[in-house]
Amino acid sequence: MILVAGDDKDSGTALAWATLCAGAPALDAIEQGVRAVEANAEDHSVGLGGYPNALGVVELDAGVMDGRTRASGAVGGLRGFAHPVSVAYAVMRRLPHVLLIGEGAARFAAEIGAERADLLTDTTRTAWGAWCAGQGLDRAVLDRVSLVEAVWGGHDPQRPGGTTVYLAQDAAGDIAAATSTSGWAWKYPGRLGDTPVAGAGFYADNRYGAAACTGMGELAIRTGLARSAVLYMKMGMPVIEAVDEALGDVQSLPGVAGDITLYAIDAQGGYAVAAIWAGERSVEYTMAVHGDEAPTRCAARRVLAK
Ligand code: GLY
Repeated sequence: MILVAGDDKDSGTALAWATLCAGAPALDAIEQGVRAVEANAEDHSVGLGGYPNALGVVELDAGVMDGRTRASGAVGGLRGFAHPVSVAYAVMRRLPHVLLIGEGAARFAAEIGAERADLLTDTTRTAWGAWCAGQGLDRAVLDRVSLVEAVWGGHDPQRPGGTTVYLAQDAAGDIAAATSTSGWAWKYPGRLGDTPVAGAGFYADNRYGAAACTGMGELAIRTGLARSAVLYMKMGMPVIEAVDEALGDVQSLPGVAGDITLYAIDAQGGYAVAAIWAGERSVEYTMAVHGDEAPTRCAARRVLAK
C-alpha cells in the first residue's frame, strides 16, 4: 500500500504521488510536493507570496517527521528562503536539534546553500498595506507603535485552508509527515503556529500512522493535536474515530473560536479528515488522496463547534 494524503491544493499532492510511484521514500516524495506549493506565488498561505506579519515581513514555518525513527526537523520564523520544508528536512538530517528559529534558522539555511527568495510580492505588499490602513496603522512608524490591539484583526483571508500538510506511506511501509506555512496573516512578529511544532502540527509513527493540521495553530499547540490523533490510533481507534476524538479535545477548550482541520493516515492505508469551522458551517472541505487505487477525494466529516 502506498499513499499520499494532504490538503486539497493545486498540484502538490500529485507531484508527491508521482515521486512516490517513482520509488522515492515517503518523506522525500512529500518534500517535493510541498516545495511545489511553496513556489506558487498565488497561494498566500505558504512560501513565496505568503502573507507577511504585521510589520510586512514574511516569516515561514515548516516541519518534517520520519515515522521510522520519529526523527523530526523544523524551522520557525524563517525569513528570505524559498523552501522552508527543505531547510526543516536538513535540520533533521544534519543537526542534533529538532527546531531552529529566526536568525539561527536563516544562518543554517545560508550555511547549507538553501535557495534565497524575496518572499513579499506586489500582491501581498498591497494586501498588507490595506490591512495596515484598516487598522489605522501608519506603515512609516510601525517600529514605534504597539501592535497588541492590531493583531486581533489579523485574520488569514484564506482560512481555514492555510498551511500545506502532506502525509505519505511508501512501498516499504514507512510513513512521513511534512508541513509548511507563512502562518497567520498579519501576525505579531515572532509568532509561531503549530506547523513547526512536532506533536502539535504534525506527527508520524510507522507503527500507527501520521497526522497534521491546518487552521488556527494555537488550538493545535494547546491540545498537542497531531500527536493526539496518532495516540488515539495507538489505543485502537480507527483513523476517522481518532481524528474525531482529537478534535473533541479542541472543542473542550473553553471559549474556542477558530477553525481547524485535522488530516490523518493509518499504517494500513486508511485515511480521514475532519474539521471544526466555528461560525463557518457552510464551508465544504476535502482532502486530496492518491493511493494504489485511482486517485480520489475524501470528504471532510464536519464536526461542529459546541
Ligand atoms: N496552522 C498554521 C498556523 O497556525 O500558522
